[in-house]
Amino acid sequence: LIVPSRPMTDFRTVLATSSQILPDAKNLYFYPFGRDALLVALRAFKIVPGDAIIIPAYICESTVEPLKRAGYRVVFVDVESDFQLDPDKVLETAEICDAKAVLAVHYFGIPLDFGRLVALLHSSGVRVIEDCCHSFLTRFDGRRIGSFGDAAIFSMRKSLPIPDGGAIRMNAQDFDRTVFSCLANTAPYVGLYLASRVLEAFINSVGWPNIYSPASDVLKKRLRGRMRTQELKLGADFLPPRQLPSRLLERYLSNEKYLKRVRDRTVENYVLLVKGTLALGFQPFIPQLPLGCVPQWMPLLDLSGQIVPWLRKHGVGACRWPWHELPADVISLPERYPISNDFNNSLALIPVHQSIGSREVSQMLHLLEKLMVRTATISIEKNFL
Ligand SMILES: Cc1ncc(COP(=O)(O)O)c(C=O)c1O
Repeated sequence: LIVPSRPMTDFRTVLATSSQILPDAKNLYFYPFGRDALLVALRAFKIVPGDAIIIPAYICESTVEPLKRAGYRVVFVDVESDFQLDPDKVLETAEICDAKAVLAVHYFGIPLDFGRLVALLHSSGVRVIEDCCHSFLTRFDGRRIGSFGDAAIFSMRKSLPIPDGGAIRMNAQDFDRTVFSCLANTAPYVGLYLASRVLEAFINSVGWPNIYSPASDVLKKRLRGRMRTQELKLGADFLPPRQLPSRLLERYLSNEKYLKRVRDRTVENYVLLVKGTLALGFQPFIPQLPLGCVPQWMPLLDLSGQIVPWLRKHGVGACRWPWHELPADVISLPERYPISNDFNNSLALIPVHQSIGSREVSQMLHLLEKLMVRTATISIEKNFL
């Protein structure tokens, strides 16, 4: 049984007649990806190439690289052991490097309270951009996520089976509206994406080849590298064009029933996995989900580093984050960014998305139990020898 790392296309929703986009997704400006949304949000606040931006060191290179390419000075700050940014540390860094904005990330769908950070930075004239790329469906304190900073960015393709879904919500009133005035009148073409997902579903149902095996990972890494080379050609003054949401995204965003199912199923999977892994002697990193949270993954403490390779070898799309994409500057300075390096090495992310049902949850728990028994046997043998 293959357990996919991301949600599969829901054809019932795609083929249903669509109505109005729901209120939670209104007042958004759409872009291809979250990284595009970030670049545009900075421009909207008249933050220009050459300015310094503070980014948490626990981040993926695909977010940082376009900023550097555009000419921004990226300054990293390590995260704390609860995923938060220390407001005092951030303020001190912002003063030293004269930063104009801070990116504050809600990791893996888990909402963080940035209230004090926002208050402190606003008093110094520094903009806060909430990164809700993992957390599009989460609510916090009864409000939708992304309502606290000056702007929020989203990457809905991480929660929904779509090829696009970069978006910005502007919360501040004082921004340059002209950056949003140019709108491409076409929605992205989804034919190739749909074909690739149908092929993926077919491969998963046959069970061969295992798309999470080490050989497949090497192939995917190579393909990603080639796509990045294409992006590099875009140049420093490239400002991503605003676009309409794809037909697929529109269908999902206008279907309340589907979105409710996503929320309920994901939370249910998370709770079942926490219960099951605790019973097996594993350590879920966040055993209790905050109210309103729709998690992207279930982070499990993995000090031995065995969980991810074991699950992937057996067809489960578990992963680390950002894994091979932790920026080189962060990897090379573990003493300056110890927690980000630690998280990257010791958190196994277990899939919990809406395409996972109780059968897949049982399969993952069964595999984890086998790993536990195997590790115990090896350690007994070692002691015996
Ligand atoms: C925390 C975070 N922010 C921003 C992004 C960028 O999103 P996208 O891949 O849609 O450009 C990512 C992507 O992985 C991310 O993990």
